[in-house]
Amino acid sequence: MDAIIDIDNIKERIIQKTVIVPGDKSITHRGIILGSIAEGTTEIKNFLDSSDCNNTIMCMQSLGIEIEKTESNLLKINGKGLKGLKAPEHKLYAGNSGTTLRLLAGVMCGQNFNSIIDGDESLRKRPMKRIIEPLSLMGAQIEGIFISEFAPLEIGGRQLKGISYTLPVASAQVKSAILLAGLYADSDTFIREPETTRDHTERMLSFMKADIKTPYKYNIVLKPGKVLHGTHIDVPGDISSAAYFLALVCARVSSEICIKNVGINPTRTGFIDVLKEMGAKIELLNEQNISNEPRADIRISGSFLKGLSIDKSIIPNIIDELPLLAVIATQAKGKTVVKDAQELRVKETDRIKTIVKELSLMGANIIERDDGFEIIGPTSLKGSILDSHYDHRIAMSLAVAASYAMGKTVIKQKECINISYPEFLNTFFNLFE
Ligand code: S3P
Repeated sequence: MDAIIDIDNIKERIIQKTVIVPGDKSITHRGIILGSIAEGTTEIKNFLDSSDCNNTIMCMQSLGIEIEKTESNLLKINGKGLKGLKAPEHKLYAGNSGTTLRLLAGVMCGQNFNSIIDGDESLRKRPMKRIIEPLSLMGAQIEGIFISEFAPLEIGGRQLKGISYTLPVASAQVKSAILLAGLYADSDTFIREPETTRDHTERMLSFMKADIKTPYKYNIVLKPGKVLHGTHIDVPGDISSAAYFLALVCARVSSEICIKNVGINPTRTGFIDVLKEMGAKIELLNEQNISNEPRADIRISGSFLKGLSIDKSIIPNIIDELPLLAVIATQAKGKTVVKDAQELRVKETDRIKTIVKELSLMGANIIERDDGFEIIGPTSLKGSILDSHYDHRIAMSLAVAASYAMGKTVIKQKECINISYPEFLNTFFNLFE
C-alpha cells in the first residue's frame, strides 16, 4: 500500500502536541557492534528497532553472538570480546544499511577467518573504495567480488597495523571502519578528518574504556590493546527522526510541539542551527548527559522563515537532513542554496536527483546543482503522486512536504520508512488528530 496523505486542509491545521521519537540509529548500530566485541553483557535501552538495525543484529548473530530483545524492551548482547567472533556459515547481509556494511567491514578485517558482506541493490551501488583503501593500508585483504570497489565485499582477516590517515571524504562511516579495525591493529591509528563528522564511535569506545583521544579538532588517536567493557547504554531519541517534526512545525505559524529526549550531540545538531538561522523558534530544555551522549527536549514553534546558503563545513553535520531542508526552503521567503553536498549523490539514492524530481512535481521552484540545489520560496505546493525511490529519508521528507501542500498526496513505496522509523506515519497522523 502507498502512503496517502489526505487530511482536509492539513496545511492550515494548528498542531500542539508532545512527540516521542525512536532511539538513534547510528548509536544503536554502534551499540550492537561494540557490545558484541566487548567483554560481558551490554544492555541497550531505547534501541532503534528498525530493519537497518535488525540487519546489524542478524550479522552479529551470524558471527556467534547471542542477542536478545527482552520483554522490558532492552537489547541484551552477550559480548565475547575482541577475539570471540566465530566464522559465519553464510555471507553477512547488511540490507540497505551502509553503516552496517562499512563498520562491520572494519571489524571483519581483524579476524582470523574470511567473510563476505553483501547488501541490497542500493547498497551494492554505493562506493566502497573509501573503506577498501585505508583498510588495505592497514594490511587487510578486502575486495569487491564482482566489481572491485563495490559490495559484495570479500574480506580475508589478517593481523593489522595502525595507520596515519587523512580521510579524503568527510565520512563517519569510513572513520568508524578504520577505528574498529584499529582495535585489532598492533600499533596506534591516527585519523585526520577534513570536516567534523558524527563522533558516536569515539564516544562509545571511550565509554567502553578503549584508549581513544581527540587531541585537536579533526584529529583522533586510538591505541589498541585495551579490553572493551560491556555496559548499559541508554540511547537518546534520533535527532534525524525528530527533524521531520521540527520541519513539520517550523513554518506553521501558531503551532508548537515539544519532542522529548532527543540526542543533541553537537556533531548532529546542524539542522537546528540552520532552522534557527532561517528564523525558527527553537528551545532546548532539560539538557542531560547520559551514556556519554548529550540529550534534551526540543521545543519548537512555527514562524515565518527566510532562505539561507550553506556549504562545506556544516554539510556532514546536516547530511541526512538536506532533503528535508529542501522541503522547508519551499516554505521560506527568498533563496536557499545548498553547496558542497556531492555526498548526497551516493546515499541510499542520489538524494539531489530524487528530492529535486519529487518537489518539482509538487510545483516547487527548485533547481539541481552538481553539488546540491537552489530553491526560491515561498511556493504553494500542490498535492501530487510521488515516489520514495525506496529511500526512507526521501519518503518521510515528502510526507512533510505533503503536509504543506494543498490537496491529496500519494507516496509510493512507503515500506522503506521501516528502514529507520517504522512508527513514523502513526506519529505523523497523530499530530493532526
Ligand atoms: C552515519 C553516517 C553518515 C550518515 C548515515 C549514518 C553513521 O554517513 O549519512 O546515515 O552512522 O556513521 P557518512 O559516512 O557519509 O558520514
